[in-house]
Amino acid sequence: MALKINKNYKKIKKNYIFTEINQKKSNYLKNNKNAKIIDLGVGDVTRPLNKNLVEVMKKALDEQTHTKTFKGYPPEKGYEFLKNQIVKYYKKRNVILKNEDVFISNGACCDVTNILDLFENNIAVIANPTYPAYYDSNFLQGNKILLKNLNKKNNFIFSPKNLKKQSYIIYLCSPNNPTGAVLNKERLKQWVDFANETSSLIIFDCAYESFISDESLPHFIYEIEGAKTCAVEIASFSKMAGFTNLRCGWTVVPTQLNINGNNLNEMWTRRQCTKFNGVPYVVQKGAYFSLTKKGQIKCQKNIDYYKKNLKILTTCLTKLGIECFNSMHSPYVWFKCPHGMSSWQFFDLLLEKCQIVGIPGIGFGTAGEGYFRFSAFAKRKDVLVACERLKGIKKD
Ligand code: MLT
Repeated sequence: MALKINKNYKKIKKNYIFTEINQKKSNYLKNNKNAKIIDLGVGDVTRPLNKNLVEVMKKALDEQTHTKTFKGYPPEKGYEFLKNQIVKYYKKRNVILKNEDVFISNGACCDVTNILDLFENNIAVIANPTYPAYYDSNFLQGNKILLKNLNKKNNFIFSPKNLKKQSYIIYLCSPNNPTGAVLNKERLKQWVDFANETSSLIIFDCAYESFISDESLPHFIYEIEGAKTCAVEIASFSKMAGFTNLRCGWTVVPTQLNINGNNLNEMWTRRQCTKFNGVPYVVQKGAYFSLTKKGQIKCQKNIDYYKKNLKILTTCLTKLGIECFNSMHSPYVWFKCPHGMSSWQFFDLLLEKCQIVGIPGIGFGTAGEGYFRFSAFAKRKDVLVACERLKGIKKD
């Protein structure tokens, strides 16, 4: 009998959107050898790691040369020193967690998709547009997907108001990728109440929480009463501490989180012990440093740098008459394509006329058509050159 293949791989788009963008960029460079492309596409950091953090990692690496301090496999759920520090990080926002609630991961994207291992045949509620991994992973797993359209009218935020009262896997990302919208406490409370009432699970992606400027806005879902019985939270050192290459994040699965009598913390522990061998000690040492007082000051410097980039980009687009949304608490600017262009038309125009790469809104879902996303994780000099070049998109 022939092997049975997951047919959903045949039905999904051939390329992941970020891969498609990088391919288009490479093809353009093949045909235009001297082009100096400015990449405001995939949200990848450009600021180098700070020296103190690297010193801490070097020391940790050096420990591996001594019998006494050498380490073998890391614990599947992470080292206690890092979990302690994460628990302290939450305490600053009056969230009380236990070390057992926290699982160290190799980044938010992996856990946001791997968490589906605990479920089968469900309905996932996902925003449209959305971070594409939510959609793709649910599609590949064969879940039904209920898309909730976001637009200018609803401020790129959706609520549980019109959802039928049944159990769902609900994806929330705040600050949102790609739209930059942030859920305030009231909005988040609506979701927590709905999830508790319907035995749904919220997967809360807070990978961009460190970009929130208004301290009255929630960084973590557990700032909302009742969240520990209906939500897992997925966080990352990638954008906060520049770990896109080092790979480290954390996932919170509170010990009191039960779905229909099943304890998710126990299930996730079982899953991780079987399928995950942990994050390297050296990397966890660096992650630990980034959460210390000194480390946080250093991280904040880079976050401020990216936020300034974003301000420069948003001001430039606005001056060109382009409508920008929600760029206060995010490293991304989400905007309407000028002159009624479609997302891909604008992508092509930008590449041809300005040699700038961004992400077409439709790449995040059908409701993103006619919109576009720039990442501010670029070098300042490139952002300034991009602003000069963008003047070229004005209609002649
Ligand atoms: C993005 O560009 O949306 C993300 O940074 C890519 C990622 O985190 O996977």
